[in-house]
Amino acid sequence: MDKKIRIAIDGPAAAGKSTIAKLVAGRLGYTYIDTGAMYRALTHKAIGAGVDLEEAGEVEALLPGTQIILEPGAEGQTVLLDGEDVTGVIRTSAVTNGVSAVSAHAGVRAYMVAEQRRMAREGGVVMDGRDIGTAVLPDAELKVFMTATVEERARRRHLENLARGFDSDLGELAREIAIRDKKDSERPVSPLVRARDAVLLDTTDMTIEDAADAIIRLAGEKVD
Ligand code: DC
Repeated sequence: MDKKIRIAIDGPAAAGKSTIAKLVAGRLGYTYIDTGAMYRALTHKAIGAGVDLEEAGEVEALLPGTQIILEPGAEGQTVLLDGEDVTGVIRTSAVTNGVSAVSAHAGVRAYMVAEQRRMAREGGVVMDGRDIGTAVLPDAELKVFMTATVEERARRRHLENLARGFDSDLGELAREIAIRDKKDSERPVSPLVRARDAVLLDTTDMTIEDAADAIIRLAGEKVD
């Protein structure tokens, strides 16, 4: 595949987007961009600064002095917030529970979308998020909308937390995921919706390998 396309992967929390997107990017020699990490990094900063996450003005006031850099590496993506490595801390439940409020602010989204477009300019990217196919890269060559049942997504996140050495409660995770789905889908600015031209991929009964294969096949059709 010589032509370097842009692959947009959207879908609800814990549907397998990042794991599968990372695998696809590795196989194609593309750059993986986890846009959720950018909203998480800003949320981490806002919590540290003691601002009210629901207050658009307070959160947006942090943006001019904020630098978020995603560094692709062999071990996955490193997230630098104002020069500090926040890759691990942005996955804690304090950040996870606050990120929907932060990402609902229009000014925050405008800032992130501009950054993400800049990162995808050269092509050869697999970008995952909630609004990539609809708002960030509406003309991406391939769009995938990835889903799985809430139960399966909670189970996957639970295993991921345990592997990271975090405390984890399956029932609580399922509740948190359902709440986040609702907030992400109902927010007025760039809600989580499937782009009309996105391919629907339900990964509930798929292995990671199968899902990655399916996307690589679709990508192959786009570069021919
Ligand atoms: O993919 P994730 O769970 O790390 O995303 C964290 C949150 O960020 C999620 O609740 C919704 C928000 N998000 C968004 O609004 N737009 C994106 N492109 C990516 C994430």
